[in-house]
Amino acid sequence: MRKVRVQADSFQYDIWIGANLTETIVEDMATKFSNVTKVMVICDQTISRLYLDSFVTSLSKWKEPICKTVPNGEEAKSLDVYQECMETAIEGELDRHSLIIAFGGGAVGDLAGFVAATFMRGIPYVQVPTTLLAHDSSVGGKTAVNHPLGKNMIGAFHQPKAVYYDIQYLHSLPERERLSGFAELIKHGLIGDRKLLQQLMLHVDQVDFQDLSFWEEVLERGIKVKVKIVEQDAKEQNIRAFLNFGHTLGHAIENLSHYTITHGECVLIGMNFALLISEKRNPLSVSRPALTEWFKRIGYQIEVPKELSIDQLIEQMRRDKKTIGGLIQYVLLRDIEEPYTISIQDEELIFYLKEFGVS
Ligand SMILES: NC(=O)c1ccc[n+]([C@@H]2O[C@H](COP(=O)([O-])OP(=O)(O)OC[C@H]3O[C@@H](n4cnc5c(N)ncnc54)[C@H](O)[C@@H]3O)[C@@H](O)[C@H]2O)c1
Ligand SMILES: [Zn+2]
Repeated sequence: MRKVRVQADSFQYDIWIGANLTETIVEDMATKFSNVTKVMVICDQTISRLYLDSFVTSLSKWKEPICKTVPNGEEAKSLDVYQECMETAIEGELDRHSLIIAFGGGAVGDLAGFVAATFMRGIPYVQVPTTLLAHDSSVGGKTAVNHPLGKNMIGAFHQPKAVYYDIQYLHSLPERERLSGFAELIKHGLIGDRKLLQQLMLHVDQVDFQDLSFWEEVLERGIKVKVKIVEQDAKEQNIRAFLNFGHTLGHAIENLSHYTITHGECVLIGMNFALLISEKRNPLSVSRPALTEWFKRIGYQIEVPKELSIDQLIEQMRRDKKTIGGLIQYVLLRDIEEPYTISIQDEELIFYLKEFGVS
């Protein structure tokens, strides 16, 4: 088991990474939250079906929780579901000294975190992430639900008191969710850890979690990249933007495909494009063809879907919050571990999109 320490605002917390952690984390919670009044677990339907019973059995040795099961995926992040969670919390008589446990992927993490951020003006919560993507989403304290007019429109910063990442849960993750989360891990390698990138390129042709000690190590490295950026951002503005590597085009594809392609799969295409621009401007020490070959081998689609046009993509990127003075902001690489942000003129972007095979 590994631990990554995070300095958040005025307190510190640990991210635990390991396999079969349930007993250990219950012991830790019993110590950390010895004065807690009530515990509420929020999970989605899949996690409820697969893991809730045994989780609750272990938890009940310390404290019997109240459980709220929410729909899978983005449907969990609606205002209606948020309100239902509030009802469960109020009816279950949670108070300022109660604890919420977010048990699931990024969607449950964002929802449960927002419930914790707002219930009685904020109560403690911990994350028990169950997806590969959640190595990213459970770090940084961003919580949110969606509004019908936009994703993550209603939210707050609220840091968890601990993150217990039990990678044993990853075994049941569907293939496309594996690809989605793995793209963010590749991103962390590209923007912040050359050795991580090398390890992934050398050992991963399939995201299969056979060797859990390998995954423990690479997830620790990926988490450390995010932690470092988030911590630095508290002092220097805009460092956090580096985490958007691949996301400008990625979000546009995600939106235009009406979320039929997973977030990470879209980001992977976006990263492939950002690498193309980076390579034109800077001498990269990693070969882009080698990277794209590897992306394909793992099972990624590496090009923009044929039905999307340059005009649609540019318009969609403009709508994203990431424009300054009308120019689209891009994160590029000077080299591996050296991200920077830049405004790119439309003409130039059109030129590169054509070269990327979009028409
Ligand atoms: N807060 C942040 O900083 C941040 C960062 C990135 C993404 N996000 C958010 O995270 C969400 C995406 O997270 P995600 O990719 O984890 O998706 P998710 O939580 O929607 O989970 C994806 C699917 O996998 C299923 N699942 C989860 N764990 C499983 C397991 N162990 N076995 C089998 N199935 C399992 C879920 O039921 C769901 O159907 C988005 O809403 C996004 O906005 C937040
Ligand atoms: Zn992302």
